[in-house]
Amino acid sequence: MSHIEVRKMTGGCGAEVLGVNLANLSNSDMEAVRQAYVDHGVIFFRDQSITPEEHIAFARRWGDIVINRYFPADQTYPEIAEVRKEKAQTVNIGGGWHTDHSYDPDPAMGSILVARQLPETGGDTMFASMYAAYDALSPGLKKTLEGMRAMHSAMKAFGASGYYQGGDQSKMKVENEMKEVSHPVIVTHPESGRKALYVNLAFTTRFEGWTVQESAPLLNYLIQHGSSPEFACRFQWAEGSIAFWDNRATWHYAINDYHGQQRLMHRITVKGVPLG
Ligand code: SIN
Repeated sequence: MSHIEVRKMTGGCGAEVLGVNLANLSNSDMEAVRQAYVDHGVIFFRDQSITPEEHIAFARRWGDIVINRYFPADQTYPEIAEVRKEKAQTVNIGGGWHTDHSYDPDPAMGSILVARQLPETGGDTMFASMYAAYDALSPGLKKTLEGMRAMHSAMKAFGASGYYQGGDQSKMKVENEMKEVSHPVIVTHPESGRKALYVNLAFTTRFEGWTVQESAPLLNYLIQHGSSPEFACRFQWAEGSIAFWDNRATWHYAINDYHGQQRLMHRITVKGVPLG
């Protein structure tokens, strides 16, 4: 009998996984964690004590690590992207609904975020299930979106006139080339076989074959739909907390409500496969 307990966070998304030590995970516990991840889209762990080396080792059990081209990396471990906001900064990283690396041809499978320094209060992260968002669409809209593709680019966030250049996250690297990649609007998850909505506010620019202006009404509708509270959960971090989300099945949003305090998270992103 497994000693692992999986407790759903909300009706919409997420689960807490209790009774595991991620620094020393047996193969059978790994399978239980994998099942929870596939079933819930985002899973949360409490009271973990994990070194950067153990964080990297855990990530490698899921696949190859993608080194983020924009975020500053940890000085010793290039595999670890720093999600940092200093006391004097006003802009946080990830402060809008998005899914990581949808601008890559093979979008990221998952991201593993470890809390390193937390504000006294605030700095929670919200997640939303794109399975639930897809399921709630009308049969007519599902049929329209099936077979459509959308373009994704890092420019909106990391371009010279993108979101981060307007603020004080000045250590972000600038993307100078407008590269767009295309993914299905509705993806079939490679492990669960479930359908999920795969557009997001930060990186989706337009539908393939449509102009930005033509795309805006439908894209805005889908983004507003995906951010409905019914599909979401909110995670309050504490020392020892870890979140592991599936970028093919969820969005996330880092809440920027702790000005004047420092927050540092270590993120490792695991490579995915082309989406169909
Ligand atoms: C991210 O968007 O990857 C960061 C999320 C967070 O800092 O809570």
